[in-house]
Amino acid sequence: IKKIGVLTSGGDSPGMNAAIRATVRTAYTDEIAVVGIRRGYSGLLDEEFIDMDYSSVGGIMEKGGTVLRSSRCEEFRTEEGRTKAADLLRSNGIDALVVIGGEGSLNGAKLLMDENGIPVIGLPGTIDNDIAMTDMCIGVDTCLNTCVETIQKLKDTASSHERAFVVEVMGRNSGYVALASGMAVGAEAIIVPELPVDYEAIAEKIWNERKRGKINCIIVVAEGAASAYTVARHVEHRIGYETRITILGHIQRGGSPTAFDRVLASRMGYASVKALEEGKAGMMMSLNGGKIKGIPLEEVLSHKKELDMELMEMAKILS
Ligand code: F6P
Repeated sequence: IKKIGVLTSGGDSPGMNAAIRATVRTAYTDEIAVVGIRRGYSGLLDEEFIDMDYSSVGGIMEKGGTVLRSSRCEEFRTEEGRTKAADLLRSNGIDALVVIGGEGSLNGAKLLMDENGIPVIGLPGTIDNDIAMTDMCIGVDTCLNTCVETIQKLKDTASSHERAFVVEVMGRNSGYVALASGMAVGAEAIIVPELPVDYEAIAEKIWNERKRGKINCIIVVAEGAASAYTVARHVEHRIGYETRITILGHIQRGGSPTAFDRVLASRMGYASVKALEEGKAGMMMSLNGGKIKGIPLEEVLSHKKELDMELMEMAKILS
């Protein structure tokens, strides 16, 4: 391996820069050239390539977003698009590709390798934590901390006015962000797409607590389960609180990464280069019981990440 390409793709997540930095610096130390590909697969197809070395990634670890920028690319979803991408990688002397992104981006990487023989390594970068076979994805911890900080502020004003807040969080089809952030703020109810929602039971629980003297209420709903407006419509008239709605939105994707995300991304970036050097490819670097392991993309993408139902039960008991 003489030259590696690195790109970030799909929804950005805090820590992607630390992963880029680790990939570039590990390769640099091992005398492998690195080309940064701007704007994900779109930039690959437009040949937006920049040579990167040790100093070009200085000071980026603490930055939110991705310095390489990102995109969701329609053309790369087609076989012709991927063949064109492989030709461009070859004509630019790029021997292998490191892709940092979510499930769709990793799937694209796998197809690029299967169809065109380009060695790829994927790093799970998404705030949704919806990728199977890894305990955590890059950006999840920062996202959760943002959610907690924000919901805590809502709790202040909720208490002052004796109100309920329905807070809608991201996560696409996964309830992980809702569950973990809801648990961390002691939310009175957490609604996730993995379980049917029982508005009757939620309203009754909140009403009983209100009668016992509670002065605030937080309901966290995952965007994949229902909108905050729908939830409020179902419960407001029977919980004894005036209700307000907050949609956290893209604030969850920004911000300087936490120490956890910086370390995780650095470990994964380092491991991606080492794996390529050992002739391994078609893998995703995963966090598995504290260790970074390469798992075949095939296996990762054929599994669905399950929500931890025990955690869900626990959150119910503790709130
Ligand atoms: O996958 C990350 C994510 O932030 C999801 O949680 C959300 O559903 C989606 O991306 C939003 O995408 P966009 O930034 O394109 O609106």
